[in-house]
Amino acid sequence: MKKGTFYITTPIYYPSDNLHIGHAYTTVAADAMTRFKKLTGYDTWFLTGSDEHGQKIERAAKSRGETPQDYVDKIVAGFKHLWDRLEVGYDDFIRTTEQRHKKVVSDIFQQLFDQDDIYKASYEGWYCTPCETFWTDARLVEGNCPDCGRPVEMLKEENYFFRMSKYAGRMLKYIEEHPGFIQPASRRNEMVSFINSGLEDLCVSRTTFDWGIPVPFDPKNVIYVWIDALTNYISALGYGSEDDSLFKKFWPADVHLMGKDIVRFHSIIWPMLLMAVGIELPKKVVGHGWLLLDSGKMSKSKGNVVDPLVLVDKYGVDAIRYYLLRELPFGSDGNYSEESLVERINKDLANDLGNLFSRSIAMVEKYFQGSIKTSSNLEGPDHELIDLAEQTPAVVEELMDKMELSNALAAIWRLVGRANKYVDETAPWGLAKDPARQDRLSTVLYNLAESLRFITIMISPFMPVLPGRVWAQLGIEGRPELTTWESLTWGKLPAGTVVKKGQALFPRIDLKSLEK
Ligand code: ME8
Ligand code: MG
Repeated sequence: MKKGTFYITTPIYYPSDNLHIGHAYTTVAADAMTRFKKLTGYDTWFLTGSDEHGQKIERAAKSRGETPQDYVDKIVAGFKHLWDRLEVGYDDFIRTTEQRHKKVVSDIFQQLFDQDDIYKASYEGWYCTPCETFWTDARLVEGNCPDCGRPVEMLKEENYFFRMSKYAGRMLKYIEEHPGFIQPASRRNEMVSFINSGLEDLCVSRTTFDWGIPVPFDPKNVIYVWIDALTNYISALGYGSEDDSLFKKFWPADVHLMGKDIVRFHSIIWPMLLMAVGIELPKKVVGHGWLLLDSGKMSKSKGNVVDPLVLVDKYGVDAIRYYLLRELPFGSDGNYSEESLVERINKDLANDLGNLFSRSIAMVEKYFQGSIKTSSNLEGPDHELIDLAEQTPAVVEELMDKMELSNALAAIWRLVGRANKYVDETAPWGLAKDPARQDRLSTVLYNLAESLRFITIMISPFMPVLPGRVWAQLGIEGRPELTTWESLTWGKLPAGTVVKKGQALFPRIDLKSLEK
């Protein structure tokens, strides 16, 4: 029985250059959320894509002597390759240069013009091309873009404007009445004060370049790239097309996930646009923190980036996904360094999880020729381990519903830690020496194997490759009924299951090898 639908989106990234681990963080988080929701019984839809129009892309292509379309085609192929390597299983990838998207943007623009929510006027003001953002004089900080600190350009154009000021009151009321709409709360407060400081009508077209979707009734103008881009979340579902079944099924989105840099566009401009068109608003806009380097925010335009492909080649996809999702606490920034990555791999993955797994399997092989026996009389530490194992799935589910992926992993690792402590407390190697304690020994090893089954099911959305390796070694490959969320009831692992030691799940990495 399906519990309902779950629609999650990532930003559509600019193909101005290759992506870095900051983008990988957002997309992997959305992927893990999707896999988790699917595992727990939801009918899911996961959308990502590329934001291909605008002055920034046009300039990037020009500076390399290519046409914008050739340039973005190449970069976007790289996006898709990266998502494949990171085991990102999106349901759809929308490109804003696709006809299915352009038509929706153009139709919406026409509708807004027809109903007088868009009008023509002359614009004189500032523009930040790296951020693709219009700014008034008053908002500049020391003459620069208040978001990224870089220089802005003066624009003087005849343009079209969207009557944002008309919707500001309704928007504020909506945010007040839906306290969960913008998350975390710190972001919501920023947005409320941004609206309160005065919203002017938004300039929604440009005339000085042409890499964009033409204004349908005045094609010398192209539609402002953020209006174009935000619409992807509904154009990809077939909104306004002959087949709008996905839109009917999945809209409103459950989560628009993004970095805090673009929450403003998603929690002010996008909902006002939807209000004007007459479409329900998304349920949640979630802005996570930034991955920082010593040199500040990692950014394509600054050039201080870390290539996720290199990390995947070096450390494996599960380890990279684990690190990203564990290291960045919900809502706050986190520092990236290769040292912290290697420390996490060695401690959490190689030591805590990897050793628990290899020790447990090795003991079943050594003491029972690989065959798992039933567990009998439970004793003190057994109850503690089993209770924690039985409680953890609900804890993880609750944290995931709050998008606290890092805390969800921490909760799973508390069970890993408890199981390691259990090995020390029960000292199976001591029991093995006493023929009278064979039952006790088999109970201990059963409890360890069952804990490993629980742990692996719960981490499967975060680390999609690992389960296959674990199931093979744990002897339950091809037994999908033992790897579902519903199977998280203690004691399902059948006696007689035969384990088989394989390669270490996560080999230790020598920190010294990094220094070279
Ligand atoms: O803004 N840490 O695209 P973009 C964490 N096309 N996340 C990071 C990050 C970092 N250092 N750097 C980037 C755009 N991100 C628009 C979006 S949506 C309708 C249009 C992630 O290529 C984060 O999710 O600049 C951020 O919001 C996004 O990449 C910006 O990607
Ligand atoms: Mg950016």
